[in-house]
Amino acid sequence: MTVHFIGAGPGAPDLITLRGRDLIAASPVCLYAGSLVPAALLDHCPSGARIVNTAPLSLDAIIDEIVTAHKAGHDVARLHSGDLSVWSAMGEQLRRLRALDIPYDVTPGVPSFAAAAATLEVELTLPGLVQSVVLTRTSGRATAMPPREKLAAFAATGATLAIHLSIHVLDNVLAELTPHYGADCPVAIVWRASWPDQRIIRATLDTLKTALATELERTALILVGRTIAPTAFDESRLYAGDYDRRFRPVGINPRFPEADE
Ligand SMILES: C[S@@+](CC[C@H](N)C(=O)[O-])C[C@H]1O[C@@H](n2cnc3c(N)ncnc32)[C@H](O)[C@@H]1O
Repeated sequence: MTVHFIGAGPGAPDLITLRGRDLIAASPVCLYAGSLVPAALLDHCPSGARIVNTAPLSLDAIIDEIVTAHKAGHDVARLHSGDLSVWSAMGEQLRRLRALDIPYDVTPGVPSFAAAAATLEVELTLPGLVQSVVLTRTSGRATAMPPREKLAAFAATGATLAIHLSIHVLDNVLAELTPHYGADCPVAIVWRASWPDQRIIRATLDTLKTALATELERTALILVGRTIAPTAFDESRLYAGDYDRRFRPVGINPRFPEADE
């Protein structure tokens, strides 16, 4: 018996990995984080599967479900939205399972920041402009930010920011970022990326509030940085015609004379 932690992706039911889909289909128990995991994914569960929405459950109650499945020898598909490596509450579940000696594995999913970037059709790292992306959030009712992880501290680097769980404090976010990025810095909000009712708002830090005709709630990402609407950036050296590299030796004295297959 194994608990399969599966990244369910950002919302579109076909944005789950084949491995994730197959594990759901092979598991007689499915525990899913109901608020963001698309219901269509549950169609992959085998008939007769026990399907439990864990949104209203405590951690203790979730672990009780897993222990019951463990005793029955039933695999569990444990679905969380996006990818499991960020804001999934997987860490605390794994710690409990280790203590109980219950086996588990982890299958990644498409994270919401990647889905939002795809929706915007942008690359978040561009040569000569920005080479880092910071996945972050602001303090919430349940989770305080560590003091050193202030938005302003990340903003000081000029990196592209993908700010999660913060649409309800948008005014604070804009006020904190504007001194670092400048009022003309591009920003985009992607609400429910990849869902049928997805919305995109593109603006600058200065104009976003005006561009946002109605308040958005909950499932939105705020993407900030020059890569969101780049005016100038370099081409990658890797693909430059004169760049000598292992897979494409160039010049009279190439560094890697034998091109690898
Ligand atoms: C609890 S976190 C889950 C993050 C998830 N594990 C991931 O990989 O993206 C929820 C936050 O992620 C962002 N989010 C999740 N799905 C989204 C989507 N489809 N579109 C936009 N933002 C999304 C929002 O900022 C939301 O408040």
